[in-house]
Amino acid sequence: MNKKIVTLDEFIIKSQKGHDDATGSLTRLLRDIGIASKIINREVNKAGLVNILGVEGSENTTGDMVQKLDIFANEKIIECLSTSGECAAIVSEENENIVKLPNVNGKKAQYVLVMDPLDGSSNIDVNVSVGTIFGIYKRKSDASGEIEIEDCLQAGVDLVASGYVLYGTSTMLVYTTGHGVNGFTLDPSIGEFCLSHADMKIPASGNYYSVNQGYYLKFDLEMRRYIDHCSDLNLRLRYIGSMVSDIHRILFQGGIFLYPNTRKYPHGKLRLLYECNPMSMIVEQAGGKAITCGLERILAIPVTNIHQKATIAIGSPDMVDEMHKFVERYSAVNA
Ligand code: AHG
Ligand code: MN
Ligand code: MN
Repeated sequence: MNKKIVTLDEFIIKSQKGHDDATGSLTRLLRDIGIASKIINREVNKAGLVNILGVEGSENTTGDMVQKLDIFANEKIIECLSTSGECAAIVSEENENIVKLPNVNGKKAQYVLVMDPLDGSSNIDVNVSVGTIFGIYKRKSDASGEIEIEDCLQAGVDLVASGYVLYGTSTMLVYTTGHGVNGFTLDPSIGEFCLSHADMKIPASGNYYSVNQGYYLKFDLEMRRYIDHCSDLNLRLRYIGSMVSDIHRILFQGGIFLYPNTRKYPHGKLRLLYECNPMSMIVEQAGGKAITCGLERILAIPVTNIHQKATIAIGSPDMVDEMHKFVERYSAVNA
């Protein structure tokens, strides 16, 4: 007997009914993100046709300018969220400042979205997986007034929802509202995300580690010792160069993803608000852990700047705990 397909929209609406205080606002916002990601998916799939359709900055056959995909993704999400009036502002990797969204029919927009519209964008040219990362906060200021910077500078523990979309061999949307993690696979024949991975759990440990080992000599001693340890254990090194793809593998198969500080990036490279926090909420909700290389819980770090960076060690709980021990042991040697 065929199992009944549950679409993302059905699932979001059903989950909303379980929460008494739900007004439908978050539901609409999540649905808008689902729509935007289907549009981005379509463009990402066409990326290989760039020589036929025109390169970035040129005019395509219909007379439109061809955009870089991360700019396209950024604009598409902003556009999709602008029409329903649920989102007051967006913080994006692609915009230096907060993007304030227009008021729609006098609606009081309750939410703020943070996002990396296209993660791993250097993979696009070579037909390798990329992703979108998003996080949703409830605004702190009164919803009838102007959005304030404090609405956007909230720590990860205050996220009400987060997720990512992986444009891979199949396209998946994975999200949490703080009650577990669920994954949906896009069925291109019907154009719907269908529930494929309910209540995802990360293995306690795994066989993979993921780090840019090319920077090995630039890492601190404790990080080099931990990476040596991974290698001693014969763990398999996998590094795609898109944290969404690398962490997605770890979520399924267990492992650890690291982006430590280097000489070039003394505070790490990844962005706290729209890369590290949403991915950490997902991983924690699936039973994993996420800390900085200075051993702070990622989700507890105060956010003082929308583009702030953080180092990160994220993944299977036993492996993050082990990395923690290495840092304690070897930074004491350094001190
Ligand atoms: P983005 O494409 O959004 O700028 O992000 C790329 C990020 C991240 O996804 C990846 O893990 C990391 O940059 C790779 O950096 P290195 O090339 O320094 O390893
Ligand atoms: Mn990124
Ligand atoms: Mn990006």
